[in-house]
Amino acid sequence: MPASAEPVRIIQVGAGAMGRAWLQAITDSDQADLVGLVDLDQEAASQAADAAGFSGVPVARSLERLLDRVDAQAVLNVTVPEAHASVSIAALLHGLPVLCEKPLAESVSAGLSMIAAAELSGKLLMVSQSRRYWRTLSAFRQQIAQLGCVGTLTCDFFKAPRFGGFREEMAYPLLLDMAIHQFDLARDLIGDEPVAVFCDSYNPSWSWYRGDAAAHVLFEFAGGSRFGFNGSWCSPGLETSWNGEWRASGAGGSATWDGDHAPTATDADGGPIAAMVGDEPEQIAGSLAEFEAALRTGTIPSGEAHSNVLSLAMVEAAIRSTAESRRVLIAEVLDEAHAVAVGNERHPEIRAVLESWESVQSVTGAAQHPHGRPHQEPKLPL
Ligand SMILES: NC(=O)c1ccc[n+]([C@@H]2O[C@H](COP(=O)([O-])OP(=O)(O)OC[C@H]3O[C@@H](n4cnc5c(N)ncnc54)[C@H](O)[C@@H]3O)[C@@H](O)[C@H]2O)c1
Repeated sequence: MPASAEPVRIIQVGAGAMGRAWLQAITDSDQADLVGLVDLDQEAASQAADAAGFSGVPVARSLERLLDRVDAQAVLNVTVPEAHASVSIAALLHGLPVLCEKPLAESVSAGLSMIAAAELSGKLLMVSQSRRYWRTLSAFRQQIAQLGCVGTLTCDFFKAPRFGGFREEMAYPLLLDMAIHQFDLARDLIGDEPVAVFCDSYNPSWSWYRGDAAAHVLFEFAGGSRFGFNGSWCSPGLETSWNGEWRASGAGGSATWDGDHAPTATDADGGPIAAMVGDEPEQIAGSLAEFEAALRTGTIPSGEAHSNVLSLAMVEAAIRSTAESRRVLIAEVLDEAHAVAVGNERHPEIRAVLESWESVQSVTGAAQHPHGRPHQEPKLPL
């Protein structure tokens, strides 16, 4: 655990587009210091280090090559999702806590192995869900807390980015690469866990994506709340915020947030509920600050992996729902992922941890299905 006054000594792995943003976040933080930078492309890592003012910081092609060379206290994993598991597990088994970019892993099963590695090491594994850290979102969260139980939460997300590259080749680019942010926020804002989903994804005729760039998704939460997500990545004109446009409806009133500015809320009688916009760090600076605080105090951060894997499970469940045209239970996705993780895991001690779990639901904090209708036919036409 770092001494309270000293910056946390971090090795960053990944020096691509997002890696450069993280180098800036470390530069801007007086609570973090870079002691090593890793990328498969060592030349790119050296250039990124120089550009961020970290010339002279040790650079390597793999994390393993730096672990014994530098005195680090944590690893920041900003690699591509396929490498999140191998890099994070190597760090954890070396005794270092990890802050990992979203998504936790490329699959729920890989995410479960990462969680087991964190348990084996006794070190923190946290996912950076940077869209949880927005000052106007915090104000929206506070307003929602005054509405009583939130029965209905919706998010409209309509953008028209021309990324080029891998996103335009993926089968489900919107669900896989973007919607995890909004699905994760829904868990945060409702304060409950999802149990089932219907999803209908599709590709509009004018889409410049190979896979489905649009989706309508309806999640059911344990307490009965619903979260509806309507989104498209090929929707030019009247575009929403990258956070999406949100509306929460509770017994005691309603709140709306356009994703960028201060939210608006009224009680059931139309009386305004004030928006309290603070000055806390936002986006990746916010997750870095929460990670540092967790290391110093031992508090459990909101992106801790045991719980965060449920956001990834929402994505897998939504994709399965649209692929199979049926309502899918989160529990079903978790159970199958657990079996796959046990079957795939080659590290005997990590596998032993996976096998020791009484249930994957209890380990992740997932809700057991509350309504006694786990195999009910779809209630909505798809
Ligand atoms: N929070 C956000 O809003 C946000 C935005 C963009 C990207 N991301 C996430 O950040 C991560 C990185 O995205 P990016 O856009 O920087 O990708 P990128 O492809 O630009 O960079 C990834 C880098 O990781 C390196 N890498 C891959 N495997 C490695 C390994 N095993 N060891 C060391 N280096 C390795 C690659 O060489 C590359 O330089 C992804 O998980 C992505 O989802 C988050």
